[in-house]
Amino acid sequence: MAPFRIAPSLLAADFSRLGEQVAEVEKETDLLHLDVMDGHFVPNLSFGIPVIASLRPLSAMKFDCHLMTTNPDAYLTELARAGVDLVTMHIEAIPDPTQAAARAQEAGLEFGLVLSPPTPIGAVLPFLELVSMVLIMSVNPGFGGQSFLTDVLDKVEEARNWIESHGLSADIEIDGGITASTIASARDAGANIFVAGTAVFGDPDPAAAIRNLRATLEARE
Ligand code: DX5
Ligand code: ZN
Repeated sequence: MAPFRIAPSLLAADFSRLGEQVAEVEKETDLLHLDVMDGHFVPNLSFGIPVIASLRPLSAMKFDCHLMTTNPDAYLTELARAGVDLVTMHIEAIPDPTQAAARAQEAGLEFGLVLSPPTPIGAVLPFLELVSMVLIMSVNPGFGGQSFLTDVLDKVEEARNWIESHGLSADIEIDGGITASTIASARDAGANIFVAGTAVFGDPDPAAAIRNLRATLEARE
């Protein structure tokens, strides 16, 4: 399995000093999770392409863009130009995952699929050979600071079993309610990338919070 990585979610950062916040987490990780919302696919707005483009020159981290929008295909070219490396699209938002994967690749982006909590894992399994990541939401998308939904761990296990049994290499990312108390259960189910918003940026020392999450993850009972 690929190494464990913590992906801080910028949604929980102090937006009045985004550059500094990015520099703080870059001390401890190489992956930044960027939640883009349109007020339509989810009942909230966050930040968009100009914000991502303005952060790109400040950081060498891999930019992991979680698109919570309808018609996500429409943004691929601009996201690539803004410096996104990997884009994930909700399976609930796209009629044709094969075509979406092809379009992302044409735009020069790595591609992943996301499932909201009510969506069964079977919806994405047939497409895992097309993706570099499957993102399993452990809260309903749209807001940070929600509680982890333990039920989704079964889906993480099923995805891990499918990936191993089919000889695939997709990462399994989990997003929502990840804290020092929940991260080990996600690891045990088979996730290898852990998004953390509030647990990182809600801490006065975001870099220390990442170290703490990683220590919890690497501890073996
Ligand atoms: C929710 C977003 C998450 C969010 C996670 O729609 O996809 O990435 O920022 O926030 P926490 O870690 O606070 O649950
Ligand atoms: Zn997210």
